[in-house]
Amino acid sequence: DKGVYPYYMLKEVDEQAIVARTLSQYYFDDNGQVINIDQSIIDRIKQADRLYIVAAGTSYHAGLVGKRYFEQWTGKPTEVHISSEFAYDQPLLSKKPFFIFLSQSGETADSREVLDNVVKQGYPSLTMANVLNSTLTREADFALPLLAGPEIAVASTKAYTAQVIVEAILAHAIGDSGLDLKHELAKVAVEMQVITDQKDQFKVIAEDALHDRHSAFYIGRGLDAAVAVESALKLKEISYVQTEGFAAGELKHGTISLIEDGTPVFALLTQSKTAGLVRGEISQVAARGANTIVIASQSLAKPGDAYLLPDVNELLMPLLAVIPTQLIAYYATLDRGLDVDRPRNLAKSVTVQ
Ligand code: F6R
Repeated sequence: DKGVYPYYMLKEVDEQAIVARTLSQYYFDDNGQVINIDQSIIDRIKQADRLYIVAAGTSYHAGLVGKRYFEQWTGKPTEVHISSEFAYDQPLLSKKPFFIFLSQSGETADSREVLDNVVKQGYPSLTMANVLNSTLTREADFALPLLAGPEIAVASTKAYTAQVIVEAILAHAIGDSGLDLKHELAKVAVEMQVITDQKDQFKVIAEDALHDRHSAFYIGRGLDAAVAVESALKLKEISYVQTEGFAAGELKHGTISLIEDGTPVFALLTQSKTAGLVRGEISQVAARGANTIVIASQSLAKPGDAYLLPDVNELLMPLLAVIPTQLIAYYATLDRGLDVDRPRNLAKSVTVQ
């Protein structure tokens, strides 16, 4: 039930704070120790020499963020793969691979095909899915629930943030993040609420930047590049504004030629290591006429930035940075008079290959 909301997407964007809070309570005890992840999962992953995250669409983008947690906190090399590619072109695997499937529905045919192949080859696997008792959760050796509640809108929002959170919790349980992760996630939940309470700002940003536009860009580096591709998918998927998500440093290698007067370029700026470089890239596109809209963390902000994100631990900033971009996609779509929840040509779950 949509309740007071005009669209499920808006309701589901708002629910992200609740989901973050729920996950920090479900997966941790009062002392901040991870519970509800079987020791057998942790042991199996510790035996692996490399992790393979396999997923499609938005779930694949959540994998791009999770890679960072697995590599940084567990020391395991982690590859992220698009399931439709992996299914027919399996890359050379390490000696002891461990597979992690990410999926909202648990029914995506491309990902199921890979899991089938993996099971046949005798490799261990874990599925993180939102729909419990779905095919991907039943057919993998292990499963972890995303607990995001039903996601009805075609565009995935709360399942994405739940996936990123559960990846962080799993990586923390296997290795050590050096963080009081329960506490950090509780903080994320509070700040998510702060952002979703500022919807009017995103409505204005979306209408100003995108009203008459047919193309747009999202740029960032590192974790912000991962969020940029997800942000671009969200915007193009529902508003039909052709949008590219780009690693900011790669623009100058060709794509910058697409920048025209007024082309909206949304820049995500939450990583201190690369903030200076991204500022440079923002100036380069601005010099070619782009309308730059900067979404920066408070600690990295400069006058003129369009929106300031509350600061949480930098590795967790993707959980906050994605929310303005979901809302920008929502309001740009509304502004065009389109059905936010049901974009053309798409089904909620893609059960064909
Ligand atoms: C985008 C979107 C899709 C799905 C993709 C995978 O908003 O919803 O890209 O993320 O089809 O679906 P799941 O996660 O159900 O495997």
